[in-house]
Order: sequence, then structure tokens, then C-alpha cells
Amino acid sequence: MLHQEGMLRDGALANKTIIITGGGTGLGKSMATYFMKLGANIVICSRRQEVLDSTAKELETITTGKILAIACDVRKPEQIENVIATTIQTYGQVDGLVNNSAGNFISPTERLSYKAVDVVVDIVLRGTYYFTLALGKYWIENNIKGTVLNISTTYAWTGSGWVVPSAMAKAGVLAMTKSLAFEWADHGIRLNAIAPGPFPTKGAWERLFPDELATKFSFEKRIPLERVGDHQELANLAAYLISDYSAYMTGEVITLDGGEVLGGGQFNFLKEVTDDQWDDIENEIKNANRNSKKSE
Ligand code: HXC
Ligand code: NAP
Repeated sequence: MLHQEGMLRDGALANKTIIITGGGTGLGKSMATYFMKLGANIVICSRRQEVLDSTAKELETITTGKILAIACDVRKPEQIENVIATTIQTYGQVDGLVNNSAGNFISPTERLSYKAVDVVVDIVLRGTYYFTLALGKYWIENNIKGTVLNISTTYAWTGSGWVVPSAMAKAGVLAMTKSLAFEWADHGIRLNAIAPGPFPTKGAWERLFPDELATKFSFEKRIPLERVGDHQELANLAAYLISDYSAYMTGEVITLDGGEVLGGGQFNFLKEVTDDQWDDIENEIKNANRNSKKSE
């Protein structure tokens, strides 16, 4: 199917060096794979070196691109600076950053310790602004028109119970995206974000849809387009946003969720009404209209 195929032309990311945080697993790995296929030099970084090494090895066998795997906890500025310095040493410069690392799990908020809140907010919000700040300084100093892509969530706008630290942190990431998009536009630096709906990954599913829940609440029933996302769909959008094809776009947040976030529409419960019921409803409303005209 078309949405499972790569969208940009060959070489669309040639000569670009892009750092993807959390690039060893899940959506980060899918973006790394596609960006490499499009000719980018890739750097993946996260806490677990062995996971990064195994992904780098795998991607080297399925693409012709170059990849570097560097351990980095995004909560530690000195480790971020090491990733940037090693990337410059290896590839010459850095052109793009995908802030994709995250920590998250479902829990009633009143059960959380202070540390449990901090761990999520620190990875998502602090990690994202530390990395963006470090690269922004480097780009401005060296007059490089860098691009940032932040991976957010749809509940950054709507809020969501049971993932409150993640919702707070992702909302902060959106505020940063829009604020810096304006402030750094003068330097030619662009920032955009994607708000994905459900895209199955081991990391998210283990922490957000454990078996206990997955069997009871299926996404296919809740999502207007009746399916979860395919990783290539997200990688296609991400490749566009990190590439020069999106040169006129900044401060934008694009939702990619099969319509899930629209579910809060006040009259969406009418999805359950059958055609026969609509016939009756239409008659009832028209009768009411006629009666109200008579009594005028
Ligand atoms: C209550 C919990 C908990 C749980 C952890 N904690 N899990 N509290 N319920 N289920 C508490 C711990 O008790 C501890 O607090 C504190 O959180 C830190 O836990 P650690 O295990 O010590 O932390 P750490 O090893 O650093 O792990 C971080 C993590 C973990 C965030 C807790 O889940 C992780 O490594 N996540 C990375 C990957 C990830 O989360 N991927 C999903 C992204 S999906 P105390 O006080 O007891 O010491 C996403 C969007 C999904 O973001 C949207 C879907 C549609
Ligand atoms: P994932 O595979 O668990 O990815 C999270 C990544 O973050 C992991 O590679 C993890 O690697 C890294 N990470 C965690 N803590 C880190 C830290 N302190 N420093 C550096 N890296 C760290 O889950 P995913 O589903 O692909 O999520 C990717 C992104 O998409 C996240 O931003 C998530 O919020 C977003 N998202 C996902 C979905 C979905 O349905 N999957 C929906 C909406 C948004 P290490 O453990 O090695 O550090």
C-alpha cells in the first residue's frame, strides 16, 4: 500500500547530518532507517549503548548510508555536548536534530512519587531543550541553518489523565517549538513538530497498553480511520519536515493520528445512529420546524 512506501525522492537528504535521540528503538529507529535510505548521515543516541550498536549494525546492512551510535542521557548536558562534538569530528557538521527520546508510563497520578514525575519530565522536556539549546548555540555561532523536529503527542493540546507528567512535558515541548521558531527564524533555524497518534512500538506498548488493557480497549474501534499508524507514514512526514522541502514551514505541529484527536467533538456520539433512525430523526425535526412556523 502506498502509505507503507517511502515518499521523498532518492538523495533527498544527501549531505545532511541528522542526530536522532532515542534512535535505537521504535519510531526513532524507523526514522533513522528512512533518513539513511534518503542519503543522510545519521547519529543515534540514547542511554543503552548495546541497543544503539545493534541498531547501527542492522541499518548498515540494509542501507548504504553512514551511522554513528553514541550513548547519551539527554538529561546530561555534557553527554549532549559529547554527541555534538563527536558528530562534527566524524561528519564535519550537524544539520538536523530529531528530539524523539521519551519516558512515559500510565499511572493514576496520586500513585506517583516525586521522582516518578521528575524522571518523565526530565527526559521529555529538559532533554529536548538541552539538546536544542546546545545545537542552537552551535548553529548560530557557525551560521548554519539547522532544523529541529520534535516528536510530541496529541494530548499535549488536549491534556490526558493517567499520563500527566508526559502531557505536561510534551506541552512544554510544543511551547518551545513555537517560541523558538519565531526567535531563531532570523538565523534561518526552523523548528517543527509531529503529534503522532498510536504507532505500535515495544517501548510504548509495554508501558501504555499492557496486555491487561490491550485486549479490552482496541484502537481500531476508537480511531475514525479504524487502524493504528504505520511507521513509514511517520517516517515520510518526518523526512519532509527535516528536509529542505519544508523550507517555508516553521513553528508547525502536524497531527498524524487517523483522526483520533477529533473524537471529542460534541456530536460525535451520533456515529452510532443508523440510517433508519436518521429517517425518523429528520421527520421529527422537520415536524418541529413546521409546528414552530405555525405558532409564529
Ligand atoms: C508508578 C513508576 C512506574 C509505574 C516507574 N515508576 N514506573 N511509578 N507506576 N508504572 C517510578 C519508579 O518507582 C521510580 O520512582 C521512578 O518512576 C523512576 O523509575 P526508574 O525505573 O528508576 O527509572 P528509569 O530506569 O530511569 O526508567 C525511566 C522510565 C522508564 C521513564 C520509568 O519507563 C523508561 O526507561 N522509559 C523509556 C522508554 C519509554 O518510556 N518509551 C515510551 C514512550 S511512548 P521511586 O520514587 O519509586 O524511586 C510516549 C507517547 C505515547 O511517550 C503515546 C501513545 C499514543
Ligand atoms: P521507544 O521505542 O520507547 O522510544 C523512546 C526512546 O527514548 C528509547 O530509544 C530510549 O532509549 C530513549 N530514551 C529514554 N530515556 C532517555 C534518556 N534519558 N536519554 C536518552 N534517550 C532516552 O518508544 P516510541 O514509541 O518509539 O517513542 C518515540 C517517540 O514518539 C517518543 O517521543 C514518544 O513520546 C513519541 N510518541 C510515540 C507514540 C506511539 O504510539 N508509539 C505516540 C505518540 C508519541 P534508551 O532506553 O536506550 O535510553
